[in-house]
Amino acid sequence: MRGLFIAFEGPDGSGKSSVAEMCFRRLSGMGIPALKVREPGGTPFGERVREILLSHSSELEPWAELFLFMAARAQLCRKVIAPALERGETVLCDRFLWSSAAYQGAGLELGVENVLEVGRHATGGLEPDLYVVLDVPPDIGFRRRSEYLDRIEARDVGFFERVREAYRTLAETHADRARRVDGSPPLDEVFAKVWREVEDVLRRRQRA
Ligand code: TYD
Repeated sequence: MRGLFIAFEGPDGSGKSSVAEMCFRRLSGMGIPALKVREPGGTPFGERVREILLSHSSELEPWAELFLFMAARAQLCRKVIAPALERGETVLCDRFLWSSAAYQGAGLELGVENVLEVGRHATGGLEPDLYVVLDVPPDIGFRRRSEYLDRIEARDVGFFERVREAYRTLAETHADRARRVDGSPPLDEVFAKVWREVEDVLRRRQRA
C-alpha cells in the first residue's frame, strides 16, 4: 500500500519542525516506517539551494525566489518523496507547496493561484494526504525565533500577516485535507492535538 504523505506548515516560530519531529518519533516508536524531510532541502541539490535562499547576500527577485523553492521541491518530490511513498513509508515533510503559496504567493504578492499552478508542475501532482497548519499570531512567531534571522525571517510584520491569512484561507478551502491547529499553547499540547489528526488519517488509510 502507498504510504501516507503529511506536510507540516505554518509561519516561522509556529513550532512545526518540533511537532514534525515528535510525530516522526511516535510513528517510529510504533514500528511504522517513516521518513522526515524538510523544505527547502532534503536532497544534496536542495540543501545547496537552501543556502542561497536563506543567505542575506542573495539579492533575489520574487519570481527567481519562487522558482528556486520550486526547483528544490521538484528534485525532492521525484528523488525522495515519491519513491518512499511507493515503498509504503509514511513521509513527513517539514513545509511543502503551501509554504510557497503563503510566503511567495501572499507574502511577496505573486498570487496564491499562480504559485499553486506552478506547483502542480513542480510536484508532478504529488499532494499531501494531510496538511497540518500551525497557526500563531506574528508576535508569538517573532518571539520564538532565534536571535539570528535568515533572509526570509527578517521580513516585516505585514509580510507575516499576509502569510498567516493565506494559510488560514488555504486550510479553509481545502478542509478535506487540511487541519488548522493553534500553535500558541505549550508544545506538548500542540503535539497532542496534531497527533489526533495524524491518527485519524492513519485509521482511515487502514480501513480503505
Ligand atoms: P524553515 O526550514 O522552516 O526555517 P528554519 O529552519 O529557519 O526554521 O524554512 C526556511 C524559510 O524558507 C522559512 O522562512 C520559510 C521559507 N520558505 C518560503 O518562503 N517558501 C517555501 O516554499 C518554503 C519551503 C520555505
